[in-house]
Formats: sequence, C-alpha cells, structure tokens
Amino acid sequence: MRATDIIIKKRDKQELTPEEIRFFIKGYTDGSIADYQVAAWAMAVLLNGMNAAETTELTLAMAQSGETLDLSGVVDLALDKHSTGGVGDKTTLVVEPVLAACGCRVGKMSGRGLGFSGGTLDKMESIPGYRTDLSREEFLQQLKDVGLVLTGQTGDLAPADGKLYALRDVSGTVDSPALIAASIMSKKIAAGAQRIVLDVKVGLGAFMTNLQDARALAEMMVAIGAQAGRKTVALLSDMNQPLGHAVGNALEVKEALDTLRGGGPADFREHALDVAAHLLVLAGVESDLPAARQRAAVSLADGSALERFRTLVAAQGGDASYVDDPDKLPGAALIEEVPAPRSGYLQTIHAREVGESAVELGAGRAQKGDPIDHSVGFVIHHKVGDQVQAGQPLFSVHAGDAAKLAAAKARVLAAHHWSDAPVEPLPLFYGTIE
Ligand code: URA
Repeated sequence: MRATDIIIKKRDKQELTPEEIRFFIKGYTDGSIADYQVAAWAMAVLLNGMNAAETTELTLAMAQSGETLDLSGVVDLALDKHSTGGVGDKTTLVVEPVLAACGCRVGKMSGRGLGFSGGTLDKMESIPGYRTDLSREEFLQQLKDVGLVLTGQTGDLAPADGKLYALRDVSGTVDSPALIAASIMSKKIAAGAQRIVLDVKVGLGAFMTNLQDARALAEMMVAIGAQAGRKTVALLSDMNQPLGHAVGNALEVKEALDTLRGGGPADFREHALDVAAHLLVLAGVESDLPAARQRAAVSLADGSALERFRTLVAAQGGDASYVDDPDKLPGAALIEEVPAPRSGYLQTIHAREVGESAVELGAGRAQKGDPIDHSVGFVIHHKVGDQVQAGQPLFSVHAGDAAKLAAAKARVLAAHHWSDAPVEPLPLFYGTIE
C-alpha cells in the first residue's frame, strides 16, 4: 500500500477501506508518512468528505494509535466534556471545578487553539507555572489524590490526533465534520471516558456554521460513542457571537474566575451550568436537569467550585495567588476602549471575525508551535439584541503594539452589525441529541 494512492483515492472522491485508513494513520503515527502527505490527504477529506463507516474507522484507528487509559480503578464513572471549538469558549474552566465541587472526580485532557477558536491549554498557561504536560502516571495520581486534572493529551494517548490536530490548525483543514468527529471521539475513547457531553457549536464562530451540519456532526459523534460503548449526549449551542465577553487567553481566565466567584456574564454562566447539569445527570449525581443545575449553581455561589479551581492550579504547579488576584495575569501593553460609532440595536457580532482578529493579535498561532501572547484579545461589551447609544463603550482591544491594535479595532468594529429596529437576543442552545 502507498500513502500517495490513498491520497489520490480520496482526492477522486472514493471510499477508503478500513485497511487503507489504518495503514495511513499507523504510517502517520510512526513517521513513515510525512506531514505534507497528511496535509494533502486532510484537504481531500475536507473537500470530499467521509461516510459514517470511514469516519468510525478513522476514529477507532486514531484512538488505538497509542495507549488507552482505563480509569475504572480510579473513578466510579469516567466523565468528560468536549467542545467542537468556538470564540470565547472558556466553559471547561468553570465546568470541571463545578463537577469536582459536586463530588465527581474529573480528569480532562484538553487541546490548544485551533484556527480561530481558542484552546483550554493556552488559556490555562496564562497562569505562571501551570503545567499542561502531565505524564500518564502524574495524571492518574492527581486524579486519585486531588480529584481534578486539566492537562494536555499525554503523548502516548491518541498520538495520531495530537499530530493531526496541530497540522490541521495551520493547513486550512479544520472545518471537516469527519476530521472533527474523529479528532474528538478518538481522544475521548482513548482517555477512557464512559459518559461524555459534547458541546457542539453552531454559527458564525463555529466550524459548523449551520444547524443542519452541526446536527449531522453531533449525530455522528453520538453514534460513534454508542458504537464504542460510551454514553454520549451532544448539546447544540449557539456560537454566532462570542460566548461571554472575553476573547483571548488571560482575559478568558479572568472571566472564568469571575464566574467561579458567582459573577461573570449571564450567557456564559448559564451555558456552563447547563453543560455541568447534563454531566451531573449522566454521572447519576442528580436524577434530573433542574436539580443538577441547582446543585451546580450552589457550587458557584458558595465558593466551592472556586476552591477546587485553586487546588487544581496548585496541584499542577501554577501560582495559585493568581486565582485570588486575577489582575496579576499577563496584561497587554496597550488597551483601548472603542466607543459605539452609532446608536442602534446590535444585530450581529461576527464571532469568527473576532476570533480571527484575536489570532492576528497573537492569541493564536499562524504556524505549528508558534508562541502565543497570553495578554492580548478583546472584551466585547454587548450581546446581540442590546440597544447601544453612540459613544457608549462597545469593546476594548488588548494589544501588544499600535499597528496590531489599529488593525484589530477596525476589524472588530466591522464585525458589529447594526439595526434600527429591535433585534431578538440569540438563544444559548438549539437542541440536545442523546
Ligand atoms: N476539538 C477537537 O478536539 N478537535 C477538532 O477537530 C475540533 C475541536
């Protein structure tokens, strides 16, 4: 078998056999198939798609490309959540400590930024000293001792996804339903998750921009979960505008800390509580969603979730004083408050434009392995449907230099679209797939 033939077959819109998919993933993992061949193949998959059988085979091949974790000796039920990626999506930073405060042991392996969407690891690394490279042994030990872990994928878990994820980020091959489904589900399966909540984003700032595609992706992942014996629920959530107000790594950590303190933006808080509630029900901690939501809300109000977050940061080598004093987090050299250029109702805040602009500021990567600037990003003050007066603060830009600030300001001003007539606020969710 030759990698080139497999690339050509997909280029020519043919179905790959299980043997071809396994050969390709094995070759990529062991280095016998080169990055540039995999980038070409990923582009062919993006353009021509994969059917359900190919996607399931790809998922299992990636899940089995390294070791797999069995958490049964450490936790009663291994829980996991995963977002398909969005702008301002700091949900994990709140949901994981909430679950821990509600009595669940949770060990999560997260990712870095992908295209215009931010990544949990990049956000957590805004806290000096915080390690995202725990070994398998450290992961298991911390899960046992502390009950909460938030780290990167250990090198030996689904290594094919580790490589492919970084390659897709910089080769324009992120927004493929088959590649997203395989990426997410291979990690969840390899990491031993038994109950999974998928936060499938839909809208301008998501990889799936319409509900039909997002639903198809969600159904594909729920079906893969079922085939692998993992109970999976997918929530279809809005990503037309940034979630919460903050976009950018340290700014998002600050917003997550506000939320863990019982404050934070209403949309982000509600979103996080809903995701947590689904996990608490799947875990059997509560039997229905309203009770689960109430329990999660109490953990924000009484400070127990914040306390779990502080313990997590300290356990992973981070400076926990940043949790109590978020103003110590990296701050940008230049901050400019941009006023509304007119009065009116906000019709659209184009989330993808905001995310792309944050990447240009340095919050994400242009090339594999690029360093990022944790301090930069935006605080978007309003939500779709808000009535805003001319001159009122619209958003703030946090930038490293004046040229980047000017470009970001222009791009994000243009990402705000106005209406003279009242506009309905956007919903948080569009449905649940079980
Ligand atoms: N999250 C992932 O882990 N992989 C993707 O492809 C997209 C979002």
